[in-house]
Amino acid sequence: TNPSLLILPGDGIGPEVMAEVRRIIGWYGEKRGMHFDVSEDLVGGAAYDAHGTPLTDATMEKAQNVDAVLLGAVGGPKYDVLDFSVKPERGLLRLRKEMDLFANLRPAQCFDALADFSSLKRDVVAGLDIMIVRELTSGIYFGEPRGIIQEGNERVGINTQRYTESEIERVARSAFELARRRGNKVCSMEKANVMESGVLWREVVTKIGETEYPDVELSHMYADAGAMQLCRWPKQFDVIVTDNLFGDLLSDAAAMLTGSLGMLPSASLGAPMANGRPKALYEPVHGSAPDIAGQAKANPIACILSFAMALRYSFDQGAEADRLEAAVETVLADGVRTADLMQNEGETPVSTSGMGDAVLA
Ligand code: NAI
Ligand code: MG
Repeated sequence: TNPSLLILPGDGIGPEVMAEVRRIIGWYGEKRGMHFDVSEDLVGGAAYDAHGTPLTDATMEKAQNVDAVLLGAVGGPKYDVLDFSVKPERGLLRLRKEMDLFANLRPAQCFDALADFSSLKRDVVAGLDIMIVRELTSGIYFGEPRGIIQEGNERVGINTQRYTESEIERVARSAFELARRRGNKVCSMEKANVMESGVLWREVVTKIGETEYPDVELSHMYADAGAMQLCRWPKQFDVIVTDNLFGDLLSDAAAMLTGSLGMLPSASLGAPMANGRPKALYEPVHGSAPDIAGQAKANPIACILSFAMALRYSFDQGAEADRLEAAVETVLADGVRTADLMQNEGETPVSTSGMGDAVLA
């Protein structure tokens, strides 16, 4: 049977960029004999308009039973007035929570042609290809006790960093599995020098590495030193695995090594399913961009690269993912630009489908 894919285009530019991915999926069927069972459904404001909820139970059920979900973006000014319980973002949050997607993957990839977009020197970032794996469902954002309490004559704000061994084990396994499909190196970041959770993190990651992934090179770094190294010489890394808080900071910083929001893909992975594939949701980092929605200006590359990640990490099609990324690289090297990638006055941007045409060609 063909691998199955649920497409949730969502709102704003979501459907516009997803249309280009659908053409690419069509190309794979026609030219490479790779067929997917594709179904499409509503999420976010689009689902609210049709059903009064940003994600129906039926769509949730479908998402739980496909090999991968590909999402465009949700939200828009039209929905800002809605009650919190039915806001478009809640659709996305429900997907992440019920699929138990504990590993958030944020690649920082810098195509040569766009190296001048970076705030760092060209030779530091050109050709960069690293992956940050952030633990997403535990740690200090969720730990108890939490709250603001009265203590004597002043108030105290409290959050608790808490990680169980099994929570560390599962995200470590995700990182090692990814490394095997990439450069075979994992760098784990914590602050074992000052945090108990960091001590346990380092111990557990080391154990998983030694017992289950002896073929993958493992190193450790304190997260503050890691932040410094990420700006100094990011190409030393392949996969970085870290907790929720440090991952939040490090992945945002790493994203900016590479430039435009319209270029950044992401994925969130959960536990392996019966067929061995991890539960997976792939989506561009950007939102629904209401300021350019409906104008055929959106850059579809972040969404296209999200599909490339699905090819590599859900469908075991690393060579085909390479092919798609190489097509993007070629198009950028040829100077094809959507408006968000323009650098010089007088350049003429291509439309969303113009970019899709170029990648397909
Ligand atoms: P945004 O990412 O939608 O837009 C920020 C800026 O980047 C805008 O100027 C936009 O035109 C530009 N941009 C974003 N993606 C682009 C692309 N593919 N091509 C060209 N330009 C692009 O973030 P913003 O404006 O903060 O949020 C807009 C809406 O999207 C809100 O309703 C927000 O809640 C939602 N949102 C949804 C996310 C998701 O679905 N995962 C993530 C972030 C925001
Ligand atoms: Mg953040």
